[in-house]
Amino acid sequence: MDNLIKEMETYAEEKNIPIMQKKGIDFLCKIIEKGEVKNILEIGTAIGYSAIKMANVNETITVTSVERDEERYILALKNIKKAKLDKRINVIFADALNINLEDKYDLIFIDAAKSQYIKFFNKFKENLNPKGIIISDNLSFHGYVEQEERIESRNLRQLVGKIRKYVDFLKDNKEFKTKFYKVGDGIAVSIKED
Ligand SMILES: C[S@@+](CC[C@H](N)C(=O)[O-])C[C@H]1O[C@@H](n2cnc3c(N)ncnc32)[C@H](O)[C@@H]1O
Repeated sequence: MDNLIKEMETYAEEKNIPIMQKKGIDFLCKIIEKGEVKNILEIGTAIGYSAIKMANVNETITVTSVERDEERYILALKNIKKAKLDKRINVIFADALNINLEDKYDLIFIDAAKSQYIKFFNKFKENLNPKGIIISDNLSFHGYVEQEERIESRNLRQLVGKIRKYVDFLKDNKEFKTKFYKVGDGIAVSIKED
């Protein structure tokens, strides 16, 4: 398993595929362990790295993960098979905004297009179990969110603006209590209030 994980990290770096930073994924796995999370929905599989890491926390965990890029989806399936986790990780090839899921999850991990975070949150909160957790990654976006003066391109400025809006949305959200952590690329943990 360690070899496969290393292979995936190297592949992601070489091909510029954004997978979770090590500190970020370790933090996420600790929450899964402590919260006795059993079933997880992930938005944004990429090549299956975080799905495999999360499923490896313990043998009772199942992961449903959604990916819209066909090449990455196929690669994720291969990696998951290599990890012998194909019975516990189900990857759906689709744009997450175009699907409707019936199941309920203990934890939802949002790690897809940053510009759509509010939409993902509002759509998939309906799939959360009572007291469920929604985790969002990349809220610092390589430090640009805190240091906007470093930004030179218009597109990047727009994207960072959307991440800031999402942070404000989480802060103002009465249904969920959110804590922000400067771990990895910036992680928010939102817990559904009673
Ligand atoms: C940051 S990567 C995911 C990394 C992965 N969670 C990991 O740490 O191993 C984001 C992925 O989300 C996918 N994505 C972006 N928007 C999406 C959407 N609306 N529906 C499904 N997948 C999406 C992208 O194709 C990309 O592969």
